Amino acid sequence: MPETASTLHDASCSKSIVSSTLEGDSVEKRCENREKAGVCKKSKDVRDSNGRFDSSPYPYGNYRNYYSFRGVVDRDQRLDVLLPHLGLKHRRSVLDIGCCSGQVTHQVWDLVSDAAPAPGTVLGIDIDSDLIDDAVAAGGSRMAPGDVMPVGELSFMTANIADPDVALPGTFDVILLFSVSKWIHVNFGDDGLRRTFKKIADMLAPDGIFVIEPQTWKQYKRLFHDTHKEHKRAIKLKPDQFPAHLKTLGLDEIAHIQPTDGSQFKRDIFVFTKHA
Ligand SMILES: C[S@@+](CC[C@H](N)C(=O)[O-])C[C@H]1O[C@@H](n2cnc3c(N)ncnc32)[C@H](O)[C@@H]1O
Repeated sequence: MPETASTLHDASCSKSIVSSTLEGDSVEKRCENREKAGVCKKSKDVRDSNGRFDSSPYPYGNYRNYYSFRGVVDRDQRLDVLLPHLGLKHRRSVLDIGCCSGQVTHQVWDLVSDAAPAPGTVLGIDIDSDLIDDAVAAGGSRMAPGDVMPVGELSFMTANIADPDVALPGTFDVILLFSVSKWIHVNFGDDGLRRTFKKIADMLAPDGIFVIEPQTWKQYKRLFHDTHKEHKRAIKLKPDQFPAHLKTLGLDEIAHIQPTDGSQFKRDIFVFTKHA
């Protein structure tokens, strides 16, 4: 086993994917699939002269070993705290936007794959095709833009949610946007983020749930790319205005979850619903 593969195998796969209903595969099998596909890569952990993590090689927050440095175990704690709000017994189609290499998406699939009377439907999308390759290697099928959404399956697709020409198939009962809004904002500006929120509001089924874990304005501080800096200077829609903006799109805030001292997640999470 190559050194890089064993590193990610230990640090990410086996810690982050525990239950294993996906096509009957065990955790070990999923990790093995990743290794066979040669997708267990470890991103270069570049540090600047002050020893701080250099995120410049990842302009979209598209970190290769994101889940190993988040320290995800068993099930992502964000899902645990959200479960009472998601109602996954009756809301069974889920879209995970900015799904990275798919660990959380796989965990969502584990929650809905054996639902009665039929399995749920889960789609993970990400702007980075390498991350989607990683996600598919761990289980699920690959979709291309324009494909019909496979019902009762786990699928992944490379897509830029902020692109005006990208439309996703159908509607979803639950839409997740975990730690992605800043990256959409600094790459595509207010227009890109507003477009994303509008798409989300349109794609959400009546009585559906939208979950956002936004980065705070303070977390827009260290930017390496000129485009990011330009967009930041022009930003009018600050993160603390997101709830009011979402309300104009018909989404009402129903819960605000704050991390506690011992939480694995460090950002506030907001839950919205689209009234039927
Ligand atoms: C910091 S990671 C968060 C991963 C995951 N949502 C989580 O919190 O566990 C941000 C992810 O969003 C993706 N992303 C950024 N901009 C995007 C866009 N415009 N469309 C789709 N994905 C995007 C990145 O490639 C990256 O995988």
